[in-house]
Amino acid sequence: MVKKAIIIGATSGIGKALAFNMAQQGYILGLTGRREALLASLQQSIGSKTYTCVMDISTPHNAVEKFEQLIKNMQGVDFVLINAGTGSCEPDFPLEGELNTIAVNVSGFTAIANAAYHYFLKQGHGHIVATSSIMALRGGPCPSYNASKAYISNYLEGLYCRAHKAGLDISVTDIRPGFVDTQMAKGDGIFWLAPADKAAVQILAAIEQKKRVVYITKRWRLIAILMQILPFSAFVKLMLGKKGN
Ligand SMILES: NC(=O)c1ccc[n+]([C@@H]2O[C@H](COP(=O)([O-])OP(=O)(O)OC[C@H]3O[C@@H](n4cnc5c(N)ncnc54)[C@H](OP(=O)(O)O)[C@@H]3O)[C@@H](O)[C@H]2O)c1
Repeated sequence: MVKKAIIIGATSGIGKALAFNMAQQGYILGLTGRREALLASLQQSIGSKTYTCVMDISTPHNAVEKFEQLIKNMQGVDFVLINAGTGSCEPDFPLEGELNTIAVNVSGFTAIANAAYHYFLKQGHGHIVATSSIMALRGGPCPSYNASKAYISNYLEGLYCRAHKAGLDISVTDIRPGFVDTQMAKGDGIFWLAPADKAAVQILAAIEQKKRVVYITKRWRLIAILMQILPFSAFVKLMLGKKGN
């Protein structure tokens, strides 16, 4: 049977690489993002049957309407990948950047995750996947980004518990990348930068194995362990090169 997937945030970076990879594996895709021209060129270069939908998830009610219409156009969906994300790390730390990060990574994510859950509940099966980050594990100098990713990971765990408690056939996968070579991975302290297509191959493998949590690329699991066991002062020293207290 042909599998159908929607990728929220497919216009660039990890989402775009995933779209190419999944199309090659025979998935029918619904691709979304705000940049209409990029969606059109992606649809053209993929070639196989692909649906597109321009949507801004920072306006959650409107995004949910469009999401539900996209599912109707596709005559159903099996996988929903919530990959859209943003972050603000301006030196002058404006409130606007913090609120925008929350609007996309928290409110927008929640709106689509909730709509996907309800759809899968009615359908009787489905798989919700979202791109969190290794940054979900600790705070950092871009506070709203790390906090929003912690929210995503925690919410996904909650969705899993909710579906499991009710005995539903709804899978949940939490994707936690380290650094992936996209527009978003800029700035100091970048290491182990993975090409987006390598990340996409590992993400799709994790989805197909129905993994609950996966670090991308695999070696970031080591950093995750370190981040979880290091005392706060040692973590701050490692991350900022300065002693914490
Ligand atoms: N790159 C990394 O090192 C890294 C590490 C950890 C986690 N991540 C996460 O991976 C995900 C993908 O990021 P990326 O690195 O591939 O960066 P990217 O190239 O900037 O991709 C971000 C995607 O999110 C979409 N998006 C952003 N704001 C949106 C909005 N308001 N409504 C709808 N779509 C929106 C963008 O589409 P439009 O601009 O067309 O709307 C784009 O498709 C993000 O959640 C990010 O936090 C990335």
